[in-house]
Amino acid sequence: MSPTYHFLFLFFLFILIAESADPSGQFCDDSTKITNTEISKNIDSLLPKLVLGTSQYGFITTSYGKGEAQVYGLAQCRGDVGSEDCSTCIQDAANEIRKRCPNESDSRIWYEYCFLRYSTQNFFGQVDTGFGIYYYNVQNVTDPDPDTFNKELGSLMDKISSEAILPGNKGLGKAKTKLTPFNTLYALVQCTRDLSKQGCAECLAIAIGNLPTFCEDKKGCRVLYSSCYLRYELYPFYFPLDSQESLDGASMNYRTSIVYKP
Ligand SMILES: *[C@@H]1O[C@H](CO)[C@@H](O)[C@H](O)[C@H]1NC(C)=O
Ligand SMILES: *[C@@H]1O[C@H](CO)[C@@H](O)[C@H](O)[C@H]1NC(C)=O
Repeated sequence: MSPTYHFLFLFFLFILIAESADPSGQFCDDSTKITNTEISKNIDSLLPKLVLGTSQYGFITTSYGKGEAQVYGLAQCRGDVGSEDCSTCIQDAANEIRKRCPNESDSRIWYEYCFLRYSTQNFFGQVDTGFGIYYYNVQNVTDPDPDTFNKELGSLMDKISSEAILPGNKGLGKAKTKLTPFNTLYALVQCTRDLSKQGCAECLAIAIGNLPTFCEDKKGCRVLYSSCYLRYELYPFYFPLDSQESLDGASMNYRTSIVYKP
């Protein structure tokens, strides 16, 4: 391996390890404190069902228990992620969520590769953008200039959103576009698979509409909602990984904003 390729290899290995380890965030709804031990037991029984279903199919909605103690769960992997990474991710999510939200019946956890959520309310099919994690590169784009960049970003987002709502695409859209000889823009959107076509389009439109507020002119950004996910970067991040691109813009200096609108 030449020194450059060696560096690239280590670099991507670093990204992969970093992304599979820690959750990107969680939401434990304080207004849903568990008072009934039956609910707690039902969550414990629900979690292995979520892990199994997601490992097999990449997505599951299911419930456990009866009456007031019934819990509804949803788990999903990002559609481009392979089954091994998916399975590892959802197991981590199931282990971690009860540590991070020990006493809340409405709990959600986000990882780069997967998402898991449960509640005593049946939330299936509902668009939820009330809790959002925005994770952005602190660097501003300079090449191309921000106006050109934002136009290209807008058209790429339109393109992959219309892909995501097509039947058969399982809520996933991803594509890249060459901006300059040295910079390529990569973007991915993913809806949860319980949403209708309209629901998916609505969630993505809200995420895209919030980009100017939370990610203006940034070299990279992620929007994590309970119903959809969006990410763009000036380096390859989705699978299959595109390895021959330049690393300009791949600064790893990111910040997080968390916004909760009940
Ligand atoms: C969870 O709730 C129970 C009962 O309300 C309380 O005794 C316990 O300390 C709580 N645990 C945490 C980690 O907040
Ligand atoms: C990016 O641009 C914003 C707005 O013009 C500015 O406030 C901020 O300091 C810039 N960030 C960097 C890292 O240059």
